[in-house]
Amino acid sequence: MNSESIQYPCNIVIFGATGNLATIKLLPALYHLELAKRLPEDMSFVAFARREWDDETWRKHMREVLGQKLGEKFDPEVFDIFARRFSYVRGELHDLDAYRTLYQEISKPKAGSCSNIVFYLAIKPTDFPSVIKNLAEVGLNKPRGLHRIVVEKPFGEDIESATLLNELLHRHFDEDQVFRIDHYLGKETVQNLLVFRFANTLIEPLWNRNYIDHVQITVAEEVGIDKRADYYDRAGALRDMLQNHLMQLLTVVAMEPPPALEADALRDEKVKVLRSIRPIPRRAVHAHAFRAQYGAGHIGGNPVAGYQDEPGVEKNSVTETFVAAKFYIDNWRWRGVPFYLRTGKRMPNQMSMIAIRFRHPPQQLFRETPVETIEPNWVILSIQPSESMHMEIHVKKPGLGMDTRVIQLNASYRKTDEAPLDAYENLLLDVIEGDRTLFIRFDEVEWSWRVVDPILKYWEQEREFIHTYPAGTWGLHESNRLFDSEDQEWRNEL
Ligand code: BG6
Repeated sequence: MNSESIQYPCNIVIFGATGNLATIKLLPALYHLELAKRLPEDMSFVAFARREWDDETWRKHMREVLGQKLGEKFDPEVFDIFARRFSYVRGELHDLDAYRTLYQEISKPKAGSCSNIVFYLAIKPTDFPSVIKNLAEVGLNKPRGLHRIVVEKPFGEDIESATLLNELLHRHFDEDQVFRIDHYLGKETVQNLLVFRFANTLIEPLWNRNYIDHVQITVAEEVGIDKRADYYDRAGALRDMLQNHLMQLLTVVAMEPPPALEADALRDEKVKVLRSIRPIPRRAVHAHAFRAQYGAGHIGGNPVAGYQDEPGVEKNSVTETFVAAKFYIDNWRWRGVPFYLRTGKRMPNQMSMIAIRFRHPPQQLFRETPVETIEPNWVILSIQPSESMHMEIHVKKPGLGMDTRVIQLNASYRKTDEAPLDAYENLLLDVIEGDRTLFIRFDEVEWSWRVVDPILKYWEQEREFIHTYPAGTWGLHESNRLFDSEDQEWRNEL
């Protein structure tokens, strides 16, 4: 790409540049794009944050952050090119003057004539409205139709606040300028799920209630809340992970094949799934959802603090750091098949996967053999740390007599010379190129809030007690109450 690709935005303003998201995900992703020579030559970045820094201090900070994160992969020469693209604007998110300074910074004459901008809101959701209003106040939302705005999840904190936020956005930006990001959609395995389901004749005929007993979606994290108490204590795992990342995974597992891999065709199918989820009545919340919070414990042999002792967390907070929930999709394909979703922080290791358990085969044939039970088949799609597929099937044990055992067919779908990329590289390129396929439409947000709303409301009133699990464990057996039958249990390994 060069300066002729002028329809692409060539400025990216990162609000919250010194924050957790920018540090952990955005800066490394942009650096990787630099390394891969995927950034347009005339692209520049503005880091917007509160600290009293200038361009040089910012670059030093970035060098430290990236050096630490990338280790041996850090290349000083590439970094110099990357760092030169940045300028730093100091400001408070609610201070209008800071936006005037930003306006001047962006208006400085640069090589090439491109002036399109992406505003990336890598900030707490409670700060979104200030930024949107202030951008509009100084005219940075104009010309309409041109600049893009990227809004991180969670989009609102419930259905009402999500609707208000959406109205505010639409007052100042057109829908095709808005990119609602859920980075799980940028993960390779998630995109591969579409290929796995719809490009393999072998799979699609089995992908329904006739053959599938239940689906488990797990996103387990080893990390705690780091320095994010300010945001997390208000959000909790239900808003932070389940309403968005896990719900998106569920839609991709359950949706019908779209007529084309186009943004709206795909999103239409995902919305149909969300609309078909059976509403959870208030009296059934207990049977459908379970929450807990980590206490002190050990991770990798080292002691770690409990949630309530994390800096910034309110004493006696009942914010959940673990949530498990059961949903039914009332359509022809999935009626009666439970989808069990679970996510937690401070689990024994980082592990995200989609596990599909098939129904028990009839035992009749093996009635008079030593085979006692035939375990059902599983298909497991691992999202992290490895990107791989596993299929568990029965084979006969070699030797005399008829006995069986389960073997796993394992396939990593990345070849050793194919470097893994984080979801953000993909998604940032999509924003630059204007491809909205992997971004969320508002009706998806809305329906997803509707699904979790009864749980949210119920928990908001139950503020007296929350179960505690020791950090470094898989949670509590109480979450087993969600299972429909005794032969169902959480799968904690591939
Ligand atoms: C973010 C959540 O959206 O996703 C974090 O706010 C979480 O709490 C993170 O740690 C997990 O993302 P990943 O890509 O590391 O699985």
